[in-house]
Amino acid sequence: MSITEPIQPATLEQTVTTTSKRPITFPELFVVLNGCLPLAMLIYDAKHHHLGPNPISNGLHTTGLVAMLLLVATLSVSPLIKLTKWQHLFYYRRPLGLLAFLYAIAHVSIYVVYDRAWNYQEAWNEVVARRYLQFGALAVVLMLPLAITSTPFWVWCLGFRRWKSLHRLVYPASIAAVIHYFLQARAEIKLPLAMGSAVIGLLLFRVLSASRELRKKGHAPKIDEAKGSYLVDFVDEGISHYIHSDTTLLEAASQFGLNLDSDCQAGVCGTCRIQLIKGEVIMDVESGLSKDDKATNVILACQAKCRSDISIRRIDKP
Ligand code: HEM
Ligand code: FES
Repeated sequence: MSITEPIQPATLEQTVTTTSKRPITFPELFVVLNGCLPLAMLIYDAKHHHLGPNPISNGLHTTGLVAMLLLVATLSVSPLIKLTKWQHLFYYRRPLGLLAFLYAIAHVSIYVVYDRAWNYQEAWNEVVARRYLQFGALAVVLMLPLAITSTPFWVWCLGFRRWKSLHRLVYPASIAAVIHYFLQARAEIKLPLAMGSAVIGLLLFRVLSASRELRKKGHAPKIDEAKGSYLVDFVDEGISHYIHSDTTLLEAASQFGLNLDSDCQAGVCGTCRIQLIKGEVIMDVESGLSKDDKATNVILACQAKCRSDISIRRIDKP
């Protein structure tokens, strides 16, 4: 058994190696292909002059509406996981978000290329002059960093907490998109109102569940400031190390050269489940655990941080 110096929160190269490559499943592929279908049909209809007397307006409306619907679908994923405990829904969130962004970009492109005939200056002047376009532009600007940082690589780069905070931008982006939709609607406001109610409802759900989690956290074991690091014993491998109280067990395992299985690294898929034999940990997210897991001291390595010296062991895969 080896006992060494405390291990600090992991560096990028050390942690990226723990990410497992998960093949895309048929239902996920089905969702992505279906998501691309309206755009494919729009391009086909445009090529064959089937877009009616006002093809530009038709293109703007189709892409705008699909972007809006996909944005609401993306926002619905986390609440649905919380309500149904269907963890695999997590894998639809990124494709839905990226599809929403794709349609938003197609929407803006139709505006600049066809509506304003590549005249950037005129397009910009219009955006500055019209309130509804300002909100549309704000929505796109807020969606951009989300699309860029949507990959697991960026979760590791920024650290899960910072990444999660950044991705809360999806709420202001959706609100800006709804206001844009509402302001341009003129007489027919039923659909914009429905989208607005959906976004507000989902936002409320998020606020309520966050405050519940905060209350739960109040009862969690606190960091022992005097210690700052704790001894982790991987019993089966006969390896013990001190790790920093901010380091997750997944990061620590990677630094010990133990390749634990992981996937979402967000506490929802359950791939990184391990057995806690002794000691205390805290977890920011634990949706990847079933009731049975919790009853038998199973924890998520991607979320667990030590609050005492601990002993852990891998769970044998069936
Ligand atoms: C710079 C950004 C944007 C520009 C310049 C823009 C421009 C436009 C324009 C010119 C229209 C048509 C207005 C009319 O017919 O009078 C429109 C409608 C619409 N836009 Fe945008 N938009 C932007 C961003 C967005 C974003 C990010 C979304 C959603 C995520 C969005 C969703 C919609 C919707 C839902 C409609 C109404 C479609 C319908 O009538 O069915 N837009 N936008
Ligand atoms: S890797 Fe998905 S819950 Fe830890």
